[in-house]
Amino acid sequence: MNAGRGIPIALLGLSGVFSFTGCQPQTPLTPEQQAGKHLYEVRCAHCHEENDLNLKPAPPSLHHIGEQGILPNGGAATDAAIVNVVNDGKGKMPAFRGRFNEEQMNYLIAYLRTGLK
Ligand code: HEC
Repeated sequence: MNAGRGIPIALLGLSGVFSFTGCQPQTPLTPEQQAGKHLYEVRCAHCHEENDLNLKPAPPSLHHIGEQGILPNGGAATDAAIVNVVNDGKGKMPAFRGRFNEEQMNYLIAYLRTGLK
């Protein structure tokens, strides 16, 4: 009986250990990536994550820029290609020319390259 009562407590203790070691926090973002994340959340996510304007087709996910280095259109996600889309817009995406200075553009790209962590 006593041993039976002891097991759940031991399991609880173990699960505590596993959730601590098994669920590591994500690699923290650098300050640059963090700044880019803020810009992305303010300027891009309402379309690219939430599609708040209900565009059809919905704005594509930008995750593959980071994971695979490719744009939604299948092309290579070079810095220049990203800068071009952001500056000039594309289809229903508005042009952001003049909205970001060079530093901010670099932050934004640094964040896109994390795969949107
Ligand atoms: C008003 C909604 C909207 C906003 C805001 C927006 N986008 Fe887009 N974006 C789109 C749409 C729609 C497309 C698809 C364009 C197409 O292929 O016709 C797109 C496409 C893209 C592409 C892929 C282009 C390609 O050729 O594959 C990138 C990269 C991109 N957006 C980045 C951004 C970034 C970075 C921001 C924030 C600075 C942003 N977008 C803000 C709607 C938006």
